[in-house]
Amino acid sequence: MSDIDDLKSKYLKQISDASDEASIEAVRLAAVGKKGEVALKMRELGKMTPEERQVAGPALNALKDEINSALNARKASLADAALEERLKTEWLDVTQPSRPRAEGSIHPISQVTEELTAIFADLGFAVAEGPQIENDFYNFDALNIPPEHPARQEHDTFFMHRAERDNRPPHVLRTHTSPVQIRYMEEHGAPCRIIAPGRVYRSDYDQTHTPMFHQVEGLAIDKDISMANLKWVLEEFFAAFFEIDGIKTRFRASHFPFTEPSAEVDIQCSWEGGKLVIGEGDGWLEVLGSGMVHPKVLLSANVDPNEWQGFAFGMGIDRIAMLKYGIPDLRAFFDSDLRWLRHYGFAALDVPTIATGLSR
Ligand code: DAH
Repeated sequence: MSDIDDLKSKYLKQISDASDEASIEAVRLAAVGKKGEVALKMRELGKMTPEERQVAGPALNALKDEINSALNARKASLADAALEERLKTEWLDVTQPSRPRAEGSIHPISQVTEELTAIFADLGFAVAEGPQIENDFYNFDALNIPPEHPARQEHDTFFMHRAERDNRPPHVLRTHTSPVQIRYMEEHGAPCRIIAPGRVYRSDYDQTHTPMFHQVEGLAIDKDISMANLKWVLEEFFAAFFEIDGIKTRFRASHFPFTEPSAEVDIQCSWEGGKLVIGEGDGWLEVLGSGMVHPKVLLSANVDPNEWQGFAFGMGIDRIAMLKYGIPDLRAFFDSDLRWLRHYGFAALDVPTIATGLSR
């Protein structure tokens, strides 16, 4: 009996000395493993007299149970200690102030592009894109502007050199977003409803012109789209964009090679004491060009003009950004003046959506 007590005190001591999982496992194998000391003792039961066995059997079982529960308890307390240790090192003071406001801000052009994308998305328009380095065909010919057309001169186009070398028509920096109409219809056919915001380039520089600026193209093609749909879409857009109910638009007959009929669109405004106010009064401000897509344009994008028709428009993003946020000089957009950017910039996390509001 006394060797059972010896085993017990020996292993309980080893268990309480064990300082990690591996040493606990070593003790377990030595004590109650298949070839451990307790198992060996159990094998000796067979050699005992029935009387001896009656005493030794239960005693060995009790020893085995006791060692097992000591092992489990030690394992649990080591795990607790490890967790405690981790909690101490991974400590975080949630009452500390958050980081100071980020230095950067969203440029008004990016903000306005997000705003108009949110509004047109709400009206069911997808966003399409095209390359800024365009070829003659997409920038001009496909839009019904043949080589001798005066509109080519009006565009103050930047031409790329490469073509002269290749003896092919030169690539150009796109002068407007209208080529995206062609690219989109070529790829997706009709019906379609898209806007195409992006950079455009013209060789021009003064208070109202910069060599790079931004346009958004609109295109809606279906079986029965009319100028009335165009007017409704634009009025919805301007009301949402300027956050004014019932803003009026005026359509003036105009001419663009890629639309027939064509209209320039003005929005209602007033000049109160030299201050421009959008959406009231009896003044008018031109904001975009538009019209019904010319059948030749549909044809060059492989869309059958006998089956499909629709409207298109092109609007200067910089222009409507200046109007909405009271920015007097276009050139400021591109000066990278940090003080200006801080003044007009928008917080990075204020993403414009119809649900949360466009601008704050
Ligand atoms: N592409 C024209 C420009 O840059 C703007 C424009 C006018 C686009 C009428 C259109 C349109 O889609 O229908 O001056």
